[in-house]
Amino acid sequence: MQLKTVLKGVGILALGLALTACGSSSAGSTPEAIKEKGKLVVATSPDYAPFEFQTLIDGKNQVVGADISLAQDIADELGVELEVSTMSFDNVLTSVAGGKADLALAGLSKTPEREEVVTFSDSYYENGRVLLVRAEDKESLKDLESFKGKKVAAQKGTLEEQLAKEQVASAELVSLQAMGEAINELVAGKVDAVAIDEAVALGYVSQNNKLAISEAALKTQETVGTAVAMQKDNKELQEVVNKVIAKVKKDGSYDKYLEEASKYTVVEE
Ligand code: ARG
Repeated sequence: MQLKTVLKGVGILALGLALTACGSSSAGSTPEAIKEKGKLVVATSPDYAPFEFQTLIDGKNQVVGADISLAQDIADELGVELEVSTMSFDNVLTSVAGGKADLALAGLSKTPEREEVVTFSDSYYENGRVLLVRAEDKESLKDLESFKGKKVAAQKGTLEEQLAKEQVASAELVSLQAMGEAINELVAGKVDAVAIDEAVALGYVSQNNKLAISEAALKTQETVGTAVAMQKDNKELQEVVNKVIAKVKKDGSYDKYLEEASKYTVVEE
């Protein structure tokens, strides 16, 4: 693979610095290049059921979830093997922007800020954003004002982290690297809420009756869909990914993947 430094207009400073360190063009991730190397490398953070998480299969930890099934469909479309590369969420976008991974599937919200450093596919899922609380606090924490002086946790680098900072400014923001860590802190009473995507929160609530979703939902300006990220301006790969997304949305496969994912037991690291 030939590495060329083609850096332009990087909007996010931290990501910009990371890119300078390992700058590359999308040349290694065109559909042809992926076919040549025989594998599609997908970056993810497997702590976000039902999208991506770990489970035990035949006694071994495996990464599964609706996004992984979608990634497999993309690999199949390209006729290559799927290689799932796991990392903490705050490294997922850097990995794909720097060319270490071909794609990122991580329940990723397609935001204008991120679009300055990566290119997104069409969205394949619409999520809401909520505040997960202990069931016993659901009544007292029902509007954003009631979170004043409370501790609100969020996963580092997520949209929810940013929204919590902006919309629950009177609370203390606790940024944590793994989602499982944030949930543990909530259950243990060390934080009072977790800012999180609705579909993921619903999974936790259905498995733990000590948790509930607050009526004080976080707002996003416009509808921010969930999409696949790739290196900026990798139009050819974007076309392939969009084709697969159109299919799984139309024939109901993605909904089926979500349903299948909910049958697995989540193993936290
Ligand atoms: N939707 C959020 C975002 O893109 C959170 C995604 C977290 N994903 C994960 N695999 N932990 O900012």
